[in-house]
Amino acid sequence: MENQQTYAMPRIGDKAPDFESLTTLGKIKFSDYNKGKWVIFFSHPADFTPVCTTEMTGFAKEKQFFADHNTLLMGLSIDSIHAHIAWVNAVYEKTGVLFEFPIVADIDMSVSKLYGMLQPGESETAAVRAVFFIDPEGIIRLIMYYPLNIGRNMEEIKRALVALQTASENKVACPLDWQPGDKVIVPAPKTLEELVARKASNLEMVDWYLAKKSL
Ligand code: BEZ
Repeated sequence: MENQQTYAMPRIGDKAPDFESLTTLGKIKFSDYNKGKWVIFFSHPADFTPVCTTEMTGFAKEKQFFADHNTLLMGLSIDSIHAHIAWVNAVYEKTGVLFEFPIVADIDMSVSKLYGMLQPGESETAAVRAVFFIDPEGIIRLIMYYPLNIGRNMEEIKRALVALQTASENKVACPLDWQPGDKVIVPAPKTLEELVARKASNLEMVDWYLAKKSL
């Protein structure tokens, strides 16, 4: 651990760091891509590796789900654009699944470092499996980090996205294990007047500070 390099980590609530980079869809400036849409920006350790292939295939197969939820995808790994193109082509030829979202070719590691995707204790040359959920205003709303040897869970990524969108659109919170369609938590009263109103309400109430409603 001595002399190990550390990089700044973006945090929940921060503006997503902007960058311009070569991707499989050409040069993209992140702040232009993100405008008016949610973006799930995720990294994978390397092209032509098995777990990464399953994950990228999982994202590609959920194309319609993400489109229906006003969400664009963007991948990244520390590989050249030639490696990306060769891998996308190989997966398409073998399986018929096309990675249509852009994949950043972060060969100089600049974007990986900017997003805390390079975590030297895990690997000094490959990005960890990060997932950044970025809202249409460019604010980071949720971050997941997985190590190199564990694939992510697509159902949880989709659930987290819908929960974030539901919470921000309705100014509510989502409890443990929340699923779309479940009741949501309404903010606790902040004044005595609101407390009186809460007690008189017909919300499903465990206590005055823990109340739920259907949307
Ligand atoms: C994989 O995607 O299979 C993988 C990549 C880097 C390290 C370990 C596994």
